[in-house]
Amino acid sequence: MKNYRLALLPGDGIGKEVIPAAVQVVNAAVQGFTLSFEPFDWGCEYYLRWGRMMPEDGLDTLRPFDAILLGAIGHPTVPDYISLRDLLLRIRFEFDLYINLRPVEILPGLESPLRGKRPEAISMLFIRENTEGEYAGLGGRFKRGTPDEVAIQQSVFTRRGVERVVRYAFQQAQRRPRKRLASATKSNAMQYTMVLWDEVVRAVASEYPDISVASYHVDALAARMITHPESLDVVVGSNLFADILTDLGSALQGSLGVAASANINPVERRGPPVFEPVHGSAPDIAGRGIANPIAAIWASAMMLEYLGEAAAAARVMGGLKAVMAAGQVRTPDLGGKNTTQEFAAAVAEQVKT
Ligand code: NAD
Ligand code: IPM
Ligand code: MN
Repeated sequence: MKNYRLALLPGDGIGKEVIPAAVQVVNAAVQGFTLSFEPFDWGCEYYLRWGRMMPEDGLDTLRPFDAILLGAIGHPTVPDYISLRDLLLRIRFEFDLYINLRPVEILPGLESPLRGKRPEAISMLFIRENTEGEYAGLGGRFKRGTPDEVAIQQSVFTRRGVERVVRYAFQQAQRRPRKRLASATKSNAMQYTMVLWDEVVRAVASEYPDISVASYHVDALAARMITHPESLDVVVGSNLFADILTDLGSALQGSLGVAASANINPVERRGPPVFEPVHGSAPDIAGRGIANPIAAIWASAMMLEYLGEAAAAARVMGGLKAVMAAGQVRTPDLGGKNTTQEFAAAVAEQVKT
């Protein structure tokens, strides 16, 4: 029987609450294969103890795993630029996980928060560039602490980097019935990086004549997500633009606690893919047992699908949707009174039936 080795990185805050919840649901869906989980305590507590976010050979430790399930990283005691860059972004960059897939869909039982829009009007798939762009991390500070201080944060857009994410986005658009692709740009203000981005989109578009393509400036695209969500299908964007747009997307889904994501490299393997919620460690509610585990559960379904266990993935999503449709069990962010644990138990129960 096939066994998959999964690394668990719950991380910080509510990451430690939603990952056990997701594991409970995944375990209920296993049939015809086995999973072995190995937890790692890397995160901000680890940092405060050892002075680093993960061991020196942490990436080598992760490499043999089939996939990584990650909760969230970040705690007020450690600067975010250290905790995130040295753990999450490091994994994304060094394993070259250049696609960040983020579905924006409304689960049964939830209504669109947009007046007059039916849930079906909102069905987007964001493809976020995940290894360069605004997050490249090049720059520095000069004359620190003085009135003359200068800070430089350099974006890096490579033709190869843009082309591979854009091509992947076209391929995803081809697999969907509406066959539409929107590209997030800002080439009216950014005459180098975003003009390159637009040129690459146009060049790749010529290989996909069946896809209808539109480029929108990212500000207008943000407004379009609210005013004309039904006009959007697959959306491709740079690291920062799509980061922002997908938190907006989560609001369309009803809560940041719902939005899931997959970090993958569909072409070559430098390390395992990472599946995680879009949300962060939510220090404002951490430790209270009320975090919504839907994003982590949905991310686990994406993981099962990626591993080739489509039936198990469907069981997870089926269980999740059935519990949502029944509308009895919900965490407070969705207007309910239930705990993380109660919600996960209800989904696990449903998955087993
Ligand atoms: P956040 O996503 O943690 O929280 C934003 C708001 O959404 C908060 O009010 C929070 O309570 C709520 N929320 C988020 N997830 C929820 C859930 N599952 N259920 C119910 N409510 C939920 O964003 P933030 O406050 O900007 O960041 C907090 C920390 O998380 C920071 O350290 C940040 O850098 C980090 N962060 C990490 C990741 C990641 O690891 N992938 C992602 C985003 C932010
Ligand atoms: C996300 C998060 C991260 C990002 C942060 C925490 C670095 O916001 O996964 O959306 O911007 O990629
Ligand atoms: Mn984000």
